[in-house]
Amino acid sequence: MSTELQQLLSSELARMEESQTYKYETELQSAQDGVVKVNGKEVVMLASNNYLGMSNHPKVRQAAISGIKKYGYGVASARFLCGTQTIHRDLEKKISKFLKTQDTILFSSTFAANVGFFSALTNEKLGMENYKDVIYSDKLNHASIIDGQRLCRAEVTDKKIYNHNDVAHLEQQLKEDEGKDYRLRIIATDGVFSMEGDQAPLSKLVDLAQRYKAILFVDDAHGIGVVGKSGRGVAEEQGVLGRIDALVGTLGKAIGGAAGGYVSGSKELIGYLRQKARTYIFSNSLPPSVVTATSAAFDLLMKDRSLVKCLHDNTAYFRKEIKRLGFTIIEGSHPIVPVMLGEASVAQQMSANLLKAGVYVKGLWFPVVPRGEARLRVQISAAHARKDLDRALGAFEKVGKAMKVI
Ligand SMILES: Cc1ncc(COP(=O)(O)O)c(C=O)c1O
Repeated sequence: MSTELQQLLSSELARMEESQTYKYETELQSAQDGVVKVNGKEVVMLASNNYLGMSNHPKVRQAAISGIKKYGYGVASARFLCGTQTIHRDLEKKISKFLKTQDTILFSSTFAANVGFFSALTNEKLGMENYKDVIYSDKLNHASIIDGQRLCRAEVTDKKIYNHNDVAHLEQQLKEDEGKDYRLRIIATDGVFSMEGDQAPLSKLVDLAQRYKAILFVDDAHGIGVVGKSGRGVAEEQGVLGRIDALVGTLGKAIGGAAGGYVSGSKELIGYLRQKARTYIFSNSLPPSVVTATSAAFDLLMKDRSLVKCLHDNTAYFRKEIKRLGFTIIEGSHPIVPVMLGEASVAQQMSANLLKAGVYVKGLWFPVVPRGEARLRVQISAAHARKDLDRALGAFEKVGKAMKVI
């Protein structure tokens, strides 16, 4: 590598480390759980997506071990070559049954699912020589949705951004395009937006999609296992389960938390993605242990609702108590609880002080969130016992008072 390039990279690195947006040095010395070990000390984990506490659940761990024993460590193949084991198809069927869809396709991550989905649909002629598609995307959609859309060739795809959760703005765009001869119209949204924990207005989007003959794509990575009485996600809570054309989710958060993602939908859509989604075709199959453990995680979720209920109860408790202490949060019901602090320096300092006081929580600041809206993003889990939450709240009170935040 040339010295000029090395210098460029090192000055960029120094600038980014200075901004402290991505800090890597806080290593966990234990499994992911409600309480973890950091620097030799037990701290309450309030920063993970381990919403249901399945990352270290005995039944999920056992299923991973059984998966390795029976099916080995890796499959050393993409799905279409020799990388499909019985367990891969079984898991796809299980997810479809859970989400009330016709079929499901697994990817090595949700990032890969989103990148695969958009490029597969828009870049292919589908028998038409001349065509143009259009995508309407929420302004705050996840990076993987944005990157998926970047792969859609500009010659064949118009890309429009509508204001966050602004149904009127989206409808205005759809209306403007009504007379245009688009082949596909795709509305794309997160189910839950991860910076604020707010939900997309899916029931309204379903109606709009129907009225304007659009395909509705929803990435419910923070909804699956989390939202709705039975954890089926935002579509369940808003009464539109079975009405989302492409329902995406992750296996890397509530459902075991290891890795993997999926797209669930009609048998035609999923069959087509198996033929055309490049991140599926040209990438390795999910490891057997992840598949068997994820399957066990879905079994746990389907068998009894107590984990989801515990998560909802813990969330309601934390939201009520943190407000009682005098902190300002973004209202809602999701286990993502943004504690608003304003200045980046306050969020940085408070996160560091809380770690010393036994709580692991991450701060977010510009450019990840708008300037002046720095925050601590708390994430609650069913793995938290009430005493863990009380310990965390005690630390928030102590640190908050010392820093004159409350
Ligand atoms: C909405 C959304 N989509 C996709 C992803 C990426 O998921 P994965 O880790 O499975 O690639 C995330 C994770 O942060 C997410 O929040």
